[in-house]
Amino acid sequence: MNTVDLAYQIRQQTPQDNDEIDRLMGLGFAPSHSGRAIWLLRHGDAIENLSLVADAGGQLLGSIRYWPILIAQRPSILLGPLAVDPSVRGKGIGVALVQESLALAQKGQWEWCFISGEPEYYLKFGFKSVTYDDITLPAHIEPERLHLLELVSARPNTMPEKPWSIIPTALDVEPVLQITGES
Ligand SMILES: CC(C)(COP(=O)(O)OP(=O)(O)OC[C@H]1O[C@@H](n2cnc3c(N)ncnc32)[C@H](O)[C@@H]1OP(=O)(O)O)[C@@H](O)C(=O)NCCC(=O)NCCS
Repeated sequence: MNTVDLAYQIRQQTPQDNDEIDRLMGLGFAPSHSGRAIWLLRHGDAIENLSLVADAGGQLLGSIRYWPILIAQRPSILLGPLAVDPSVRGKGIGVALVQESLALAQKGQWEWCFISGEPEYYLKFGFKSVTYDDITLPAHIEPERLHLLELVSARPNTMPEKPWSIIPTALDVEPVLQITGES
């Protein structure tokens, strides 16, 4: 990877960033992207304090957003979409956005992080590949894209038998905790 010689800062996204984020999404994804199965897991607003942008003096170079989900009824997060401006790809901005946002997620109450993405990109952050023996989803996603990361708040010993259902939720919905076993 090249070293980053660009002047930019990673900061929390604000509503004023929406147009720039739309621009990055348009550059990074096909127009059909928002119709893909993964969007069934995105209800309501992104999680503000985890959703970050790489800001070069008002022009955004990259964006990462997260949505709240429930994994086996546990409060969890969905990583993505992640997009970096094509003119500055390969300079570490994507990795920096993932690392900084996951570091913030580790300080929260979320237990698991789910991603549908390329294994080559996400395994290096500690994600593990999962299959449809491990999870269920509202709609089919290619199995090779399914990855889960255990966050520090997870209590793996208290999780129910697999498969764990992954369903959308919204920020104002309190997760129903069904805790069995050790606390
Ligand atoms: C994927 C994306 C965010 C990467 O951003 P970036 O800033 O170029 O990535 P970085 O410079 O931080 O990381 C580069 C590394 O990621 C790898 N990489 C980049 N895109 C990749 C992809 N789609 N799949 C697998 N690996 C990828 C590079 O090979 C490089 O690996 P290295 O560090 O071993 O050399 C960017 O290419 C993008 O916006 N793509 C379009 C949208 C997209 O596909 N988003 C991800 C959805 S899962």
